[in-house]
Amino acid sequence: MAQLTWLGHSAFQIQTMSYTLLIDPFISGNPSATVTAEQLHPTHILVSHGHGDHLGDTIAIAKKNNALVIAPNELAVYCGKKGCRFHAMHLGGAHEFPFGKVKLTIAHHGSGLEKGDEFLYLGNPCGFLLWIEGKVLYHAGDTALFLDMQLIGEMNAIDIALLPIGDNFTMGPDDAVKAAEFLKPKLVIPMHYNTFDVIKQNPNAFALKVKNCTVEILEVGKSREF
Ligand code: NI
Ligand code: MN
Repeated sequence: MAQLTWLGHSAFQIQTMSYTLLIDPFISGNPSATVTAEQLHPTHILVSHGHGDHLGDTIAIAKKNNALVIAPNELAVYCGKKGCRFHAMHLGGAHEFPFGKVKLTIAHHGSGLEKGDEFLYLGNPCGFLLWIEGKVLYHAGDTALFLDMQLIGEMNAIDIALLPIGDNFTMGPDDAVKAAEFLKPKLVIPMHYNTFDVIKQNPNAFALKVKNCTVEILEVGKSREF
C-alpha cells in the first residue's frame, strides 16, 4: 500500500513503506501549495522538465535530504552540476529503482530554464510511467495531447493517470478527456490547473465529460491510497 498526495500544480508525493518520492516539486512560489519545501523529506525526486513550475525546489530539497534526482539526461546532469545526486534517463528508457520501475515517456512541450535574460537548454520534457507496489501510475508531465497515448494505454494497464487540464501551456479539459480514452486508466486525477489565472478550469466539468473511467478530484494537500 502506498499513498499519493497532491502538493498542488503538477507536484505529487508518493509514500511507500520505505521510500518517499516527489514529482515536480514546485512548492516555493506555488500559490496553491499547503506545505513548505522544508517539510518535505524525499528519498527520490522525479522531474519532468526544466520549467520553473516543475523543477521548482528540486535542487534545494534534493541537497538537503540527499535525495536522488531522476530526470531526462540534460536536466539530471544540470542538477548534478548544482550538487545533487542524480540518475539520468531518457525518453523510452526504463530503470528499476529500489522503490519500483520508472519509464520516461514523450511529452510535447519545452524544457528551457529561464536564467536572467536567457534560456538554458535542458533537453526534452517527459512524462513518467511508474510501477510501484504492484500498481501502474502515469504522470503525463506538461504535454499536448498525442496519439501515442493510445500506445501507452495499450502496453500498460494504468491504474492512475495524472493529467494536466489547465490549457494554455498544456492539454485543456477536452483534450484530457481524449487522453483518458487513449490511456484507458482505471482512474484519472487532474493536475496543472487553477494554480494561476491563465490555467483556471472547473475540474468537475472535466470529470463529467470523462466517460470511460473514474475521475478523482484531489484537493491540494489531500492523499489517496493505491
Ligand atoms: Ni512546463
Ligand atoms: Mn507547467
